[in-house]
Amino acid sequence: MPWISVRRTSHWMHKQVRGRTMSIKPLLAGNWKMNGMAESLSEIDLLIASLPAEADRVADILICPPATLLDRVAQKGAPHAIMAGGQNCHMAQGGAHTGDISALMLKDAGASHVILGHSERRSDHHETDGLVRAKAESAITAGLIPIVCVGETLAERQNGVAQTVVEHQLEGSLPPTLTTAIVIAYEPVWAIGTGKVPGLDDIAEMHGSIREWLQNKYGSLGEATPILYGGSLKPDNARDILAVENVDGGLIGGASLKAQDLLAIYAAAQ
Ligand code: PGA
Repeated sequence: MPWISVRRTSHWMHKQVRGRTMSIKPLLAGNWKMNGMAESLSEIDLLIASLPAEADRVADILICPPATLLDRVAQKGAPHAIMAGGQNCHMAQGGAHTGDISALMLKDAGASHVILGHSERRSDHHETDGLVRAKAESAITAGLIPIVCVGETLAERQNGVAQTVVEHQLEGSLPPTLTTAIVIAYEPVWAIGTGKVPGLDDIAEMHGSIREWLQNKYGSLGEATPILYGGSLKPDNARDILAVENVDGGLIGGASLKAQDLLAIYAAAQ
């Protein structure tokens, strides 16, 4: 990707994209997965107490708690520009779907974003690219920003097909056309919850190829689409990973459960 260069500044990452400068403000998105009870709301209080005012922030902060806590996290966070998001939604906006939650309901509960196609949902619930696309379209219709997750397994990386697999997932999981913002999260399946992370060169190569794919598919909207890295992003590796070209923030699992860890990652984003 020779036409894109990034230099770290005291503020956002400025990208020279085909001759013009654009900025993507980093997004740090916490994915609490199936963790968190009422007492976890104290972590939001700690974030509120420690983060600078919104205008001075170097990264946007989003917390995706379990659905049971969504409206409480949203209400607590909203006055302090801490966004709240869902971890999944149904493709329909309502109806006879026992146990499911629609994008419209997430929006009503205060969500701004929804994580879709996470590898745990792809494996635990057999979610296909086509289903993820239908959910993404439903989320956009409801006024949410979908965070669409893609990533290869260890066997796929070892077989040298990681990029092909990810491109295939992008092609199948994203809407054919876009008129509004989305977010992509590249999460190598083998890095999630394992403490293992890809080499910085591998992250740069994958994010570069995702950027190229997005540009070809969506033009300027693709150039401006944040591409998050996810998978064992921790305070001790965040500075290096968040500085990689085309890494526009992180999707953070385990290290988002404690405000202290998330704040350390935030500090690394400066
Ligand atoms: P992890 O999870 O940071 O605990 O590896 C990331 C994710 O699954 O989104």
